[in-house]
Amino acid sequence: MPDITNNKKAFKRYTITSALPYANGPLHIGHLAGVYVPADIYARYLRLKGEDVVFIGGSDEHGVPITIKARQEQTSPQAIVDRYHALIRDSFKKFGISFDVYSRTSAAIHHETASAFFRKLYDNGKFLEKETEQYFDAENQQFLADRYITGHCPHCSYDKAYGDQCENCGTSLSPTDLINPRSVLSGNKPVMKKTRHWYLPLDQYEPMLRKWILEDHKHDWKPNVYGQCKSWIDQGLQARAVTRDLDWGVKVPVEGTEGKVLYVWFDAPIGYISATREWGEEKGIDWEKYWKDPESKLVHFIGKDNIVFHCIIFPCMLHAEGSYILPENVPANEFLNLEGDKISTSRNWAVWLHEYLEAFPGKQDVLRYVLCSAAPETKDNDFTWKDFQARNNGELLAVFGNFVNRTLVLTHKYFDGKVPAVEGSPEDPRLLESDQQALDALAGFPGKIMHSLDNYRFREALGELMNLARLGNKYLTEAEPWKLFKEHPERVRTILNVSLQICASLAVLCEPFLPFTAEKLKKMLQLEFAGWARAGQAGLLQPGHQIDQPSLLFEKIEDSQIEQQVKKLLNTRERNAANEQSAEPLKPAISFDDFSRLDIRVATVLAAEKVPKTKKLLKLQVDTGVDQRTLVSGIAGVYEPADLIGKRVVVLANLEPKTIKGIESHGMVLMAEDPEGDLAFIAPEKDFPDGSIIS
Ligand code: 2FM
Ligand code: ZN
Repeated sequence: MPDITNNKKAFKRYTITSALPYANGPLHIGHLAGVYVPADIYARYLRLKGEDVVFIGGSDEHGVPITIKARQEQTSPQAIVDRYHALIRDSFKKFGISFDVYSRTSAAIHHETASAFFRKLYDNGKFLEKETEQYFDAENQQFLADRYITGHCPHCSYDKAYGDQCENCGTSLSPTDLINPRSVLSGNKPVMKKTRHWYLPLDQYEPMLRKWILEDHKHDWKPNVYGQCKSWIDQGLQARAVTRDLDWGVKVPVEGTEGKVLYVWFDAPIGYISATREWGEEKGIDWEKYWKDPESKLVHFIGKDNIVFHCIIFPCMLHAEGSYILPENVPANEFLNLEGDKISTSRNWAVWLHEYLEAFPGKQDVLRYVLCSAAPETKDNDFTWKDFQARNNGELLAVFGNFVNRTLVLTHKYFDGKVPAVEGSPEDPRLLESDQQALDALAGFPGKIMHSLDNYRFREALGELMNLARLGNKYLTEAEPWKLFKEHPERVRTILNVSLQICASLAVLCEPFLPFTAEKLKKMLQLEFAGWARAGQAGLLQPGHQIDQPSLLFEKIEDSQIEQQVKKLLNTRERNAANEQSAEPLKPAISFDDFSRLDIRVATVLAAEKVPKTKKLLKLQVDTGVDQRTLVSGIAGVYEPADLIGKRVVVLANLEPKTIKGIESHGMVLMAEDPEGDLAFIAPEKDFPDGSIIS
């Protein structure tokens, strides 16, 4: 990525946003690696430098997937978002993501802010109003926006593409692009129906976008971000609908628009503004300058699937509104894979943050470290449990932890935990060349790390931090103070002073990356607040300063712990493979009313005989608890009639009678069928009386 620090513009304050996660599922490692760890490192780093920062987060609580999930679980969208908002917020907190505010788009302040934003654009004639024909589910009386419709992708033929995007090839779609479209609600073929919507004419902003992105940010945006923007702009931008026919979302603030809400991608980025407003109003801070003063630097941290929304659509909205600044940078990351496969919520192919914490309590920094070291900054990257273990045991523990621990243990052993002074005599200089080299190198690290962070190269910055720990480890190992104490205690004083200065700088510089470790280390060193500017200096710890007893910063991760995690994933992979090979696709959703019309009961087989001239059919006499009746069942190849007498079965009792081979069958015995076509009766686990209802 190009270097942007050479012609650095000075900013008075920083507005850092991180993509608002959808509140319809828990967080996984991909979220942390792609967005929240880098955003948090950046925010913490700027705060350490004493900058004025607001770091914004929140839950994205609108959109079709949330309403679909609510429908599946027969609950309300609000209940879904309440559940996941709490879970997500909790995970962020536990991983030390240091938001100044974590808000949500179902909050009243957001509805108010997003409505006012839309209304201003509406009043100023910034939208086009169009009546078009859109897909409609006649059975459910609902327009089929975005994910309410699926079909074949016109680009890659994937058969489960959605009305807004194909998740297989990533192409952004409109419902009418889909081949063989189907309603997600009923499975039916949709019909066309007229509806009225508001569109943001992106084409009108092309000159602004060309200048702002393609010229002004040609050299400082990441190539992947710049490239995507260029391709969108070069393909020709079109007007985008910013409203939908749905009942979950921010209501369109225009008379006579009942049943219409703002498109989730119109309201969600405004969520950054609402959250800043919520923070400012609560703290009595003028929040507007974080969004409107050109001396504020706005940076959006996102994943690559969000680039068009943050680099094209939201900036057009901000520009159309007229009083807002545009982002200075959008350092979008690529995707993190897991053990070679794409992370997938529906296939449960993920490491969920709340489950990680159960398996590795207190090891938040280890995951932060590994995810930053393997961050998908320039290309998709892979998380593996082996790499996780190797980085903990071979880097955090063997280098960082080992160096700090040896230094602190020796300081206690030789000097009762008091920082020794650099010593020497005229004929024996205080600092040998090796000491001076270590101190010179130490002084260079803050600048190197800062340079990487200013350019959004977080992996590189972390690599430099570890190089500082390596420097300390090597210095201490080569100086061998434990061999010198008897004859040259003055050398040991100097060596431990230098080592302690390196430890103190590590404590300051590691804070953005490893905040929990930094806190622990600062406490051990009894290091009062020291900002970025003090790091690298030899006087961070003064002679005579008393340090605390050391405790281990990192622990070994055993093979058995890793094997357990790998096994868990292997089980998931096997389950998925079995499902993909065998399971029939789910049938379209039915209502509870549909289900409750079925009369399903426990029954007992009283008699069974083969139906003449058939191979598979048996004539059964069953007791349903309310009557005794005859049924015909295609189970002859599986059960012998004699074995069935007295067997408990489950019967669909109100199926209309049907004559099969001359026998009137009154209902149906329910059976399970495996992928190979093997059949088995099903029955309740307990010995319930005949006639017991299945519901
Ligand atoms: O992709 C997502 O998870 C979106 N919920 C991100 C929204 S970012 C912002 F615009 F709110
Ligand atoms: Zn596709």
